[in-house]
Amino acid sequence: MTLSSKRILLIIGGGIAAYKTLDLIRRLRERGAAVRCVMTAAATEFVTPLSVGTLSADRVFTELFDRDDEHDVGHIRLSRQADLIVVAPATADLMAKLANGLANDLASAVLLATDKPVLMAPAMNPRMWEHPATRRNRAALKSDGIAFVGPGRGEMAESGEAGEGRMAEPLEIVAAIEAKLAPSAGPLAGRRIVVTSGPTHEPIDPVRYIANRSSGRQGHAIAAALARLGADVRLVTGPVALADPDGVSTRHVETARDMLAAVEAELPADAAVFVAAVADWRTADAAGQKIKKVAGEGPPTLRMIENPDILSTVGHHRLRPFLVIGFAAETQHLHANAQAKLKRKGADLIVANDVGGDVMGGARNRVSIVSAAGIDEWPDLGKDEVAARLAELIAERLRSTVA
Ligand code: CTP
Repeated sequence: MTLSSKRILLIIGGGIAAYKTLDLIRRLRERGAAVRCVMTAAATEFVTPLSVGTLSADRVFTELFDRDDEHDVGHIRLSRQADLIVVAPATADLMAKLANGLANDLASAVLLATDKPVLMAPAMNPRMWEHPATRRNRAALKSDGIAFVGPGRGEMAESGEAGEGRMAEPLEIVAAIEAKLAPSAGPLAGRRIVVTSGPTHEPIDPVRYIANRSSGRQGHAIAAALARLGADVRLVTGPVALADPDGVSTRHVETARDMLAAVEAELPADAAVFVAAVADWRTADAAGQKIKKVAGEGPPTLRMIENPDILSTVGHHRLRPFLVIGFAAETQHLHANAQAKLKRKGADLIVANDVGGDVMGGARNRVSIVSAAGIDEWPDLGKDEVAARLAELIAERLRSTVA
């Protein structure tokens, strides 16, 4: 009974996938959860409140201004009495409403009023899922802390169209619910760890920017490895082509200055790992309009100024984490440069790597761990293995401190 005594408020949206929620309710109750359901008006066109009520063994709520419901329970209380709110299927409409703070029916009012974690299982036509408006809404919801499970790829029940948009299967949703509700376990449980990853983009004008070849693979792998050991990971990433790692709260930024602000907003933390390849410089005055070629004038001169050093700022911060780890990408004098960086930036450890080869963007990495105590050279490893080892090392270093 993995979910015994857990209270789940299930909001059923209006989509053909609503029929799968009948199975979801059954699976949740088998695991000991109490399930209370809210249905949107559209949902009642797909499954009946009678079936939902029978399977959940509870009243089903559909009306925002139902005099009896508001008197007995009310949308505020409904939203607070649960341990977790699950939206399945999360339609494009429900996502759009919450992303924009609309609350014109019971389901959306509950979502806006809640102080509990929310998990959405989107289901919609692939074109709706790919629409920029839905993308925007999902990004906004994610950054508001809403968790998602699915959608997967497959054929749509109604149109036969293939693509992404199919609701996660009931057992996948159950697994996501269990992960969300289970108290985190592992040597890093209860530890907040900030990780930076990826490059930064520094604008030249609205269409051009300065960047570097960082893929974010190493940073994302470290964030995922720390989460697997139970840490509450706050990943701040520049623009990358990678998916947000599972179980990690991820913020997306563009510039070094945005990255610094996002990192400082996550302090205090137990540890911080700075893997991002932050641009050292930005243009002194990014143009508001696209810079045009002007006949006879030749190319423009870009005046550069220094970006804030995020590692160094945090290494000397009033809220300095117990453990501060930096990376040093070097093409020569690896160890001497890393030792110097350790001191200058106020770090406890520097993971030094030789970027002479194809490390940037590649799958492998050969690093040395540099600390005041000396240098530990690791063999050539996959980036995931480097991440797993580093996560273990962090767990070991934090073990002696109080969680
Ligand atoms: N770093 C940072 N903010 C910056 C620059 C770097 O947080 N503005 C962090 C990186 O995330 C990394 C470490 O500092 O953990 C080292 O970055 P690196 O680019 O190797 O060092 P630099 O400070 O640029 O030093 P150098 O010019 O000697 O390469």
